Amino acid sequence: MTIAMGRAKNLRDGQEYPYEIDILKTVDLDAIMALQYLIVRNNNGLETFIPMEKDDVRADLEGDGVVVGLKIAGELKGYFMIHYIRQSDEVIRFGKDIPSIEPNSGNVCRFRHVGIHPDFRGSSLAKEMSRQVMKIAGESGFGIRYMCTVVAPTNYPSLNHQFTNRMVAVSLKKYHEEYFRLVMFQDFTSPIGVSEQGTMDIPGSNLEAIRAAFREGHVGYGLRRTDGETHILFGRALNRIFMDQGA
Ligand SMILES: CC(C)(COP(=O)(O)OP(=O)(O)OC[C@H]1O[C@@H](n2cnc3c(N)ncnc32)[C@H](O)[C@@H]1OP(=O)(O)O)[C@@H](O)C(=O)NCCC(=O)NCCS
Repeated sequence: MTIAMGRAKNLRDGQEYPYEIDILKTVDLDAIMALQYLIVRNNNGLETFIPMEKDDVRADLEGDGVVVGLKIAGELKGYFMIHYIRQSDEVIRFGKDIPSIEPNSGNVCRFRHVGIHPDFRGSSLAKEMSRQVMKIAGESGFGIRYMCTVVAPTNYPSLNHQFTNRMVAVSLKKYHEEYFRLVMFQDFTSPIGVSEQGTMDIPGSNLEAIRAAFREGHVGYGLRRTDGETHILFGRALNRIFMDQGA
């Protein structure tokens, strides 16, 4: 089912192409997996993007979440996946990182994965897909209150659209065994606010300084690029939220 349409610029030939955003189904599974592997090859490794297991993608396509895809001439060029966290062990895992989420809460969602074909980046297509996926999730009856996700602290494009979605970074954790990720969160019922006083700008590669900022009660709320490097903006959280720096 098509839910939005527009035009996207191909960075390779400079031309604009019409796209449609569809709700994806099981039939799109292989195309999603192929696009993930193409992105990993293009990234030269797993530092910022780790492909999802096929069974997890299938589960989200079949109702554990919502997956939208961006198609150009029928070919998948992007996808965005939200996962409904229904199982209490998953809630507890995120709840350990973000204890303002109650363990029995039934309305926790996760921005799970997003990928855009390298030829079509830089046109805010991920932001457009996140708007569409949030709309569908909001209308699903699941009743989203908490949204969480994890993002590499140096992944500028990904942090960019998460901050646009009003997410804030609340801790730094080791995920997938060796990769550090910012745990990001928002409570849509009582949004976390950030003080404009005493804000700081920390390079995403400076994990020690990021840990120290969290310890001092700051949260990440924005970013800028300085000399090609991703810098995260930190400010003091106005609401009480938990922060823990265990790896
Ligand atoms: C993260 C991702 C989905 C963002 O998609 P996108 O639609 O291109 O994002 P946007 O167009 O909104 O761009 C976001 C920012 O990144 C910048 N950007 C995007 N692609 C870029 C590129 N190839 N080179 C340099 N900057 C780029 C944009 O200029 C924009 O910054 P600005 O607002 O300061 O100008 C895409 O970069 C991607 O697929 N990356 C690989 C997979 C990944 O890392 N996924 C996230 C983890 S699951």
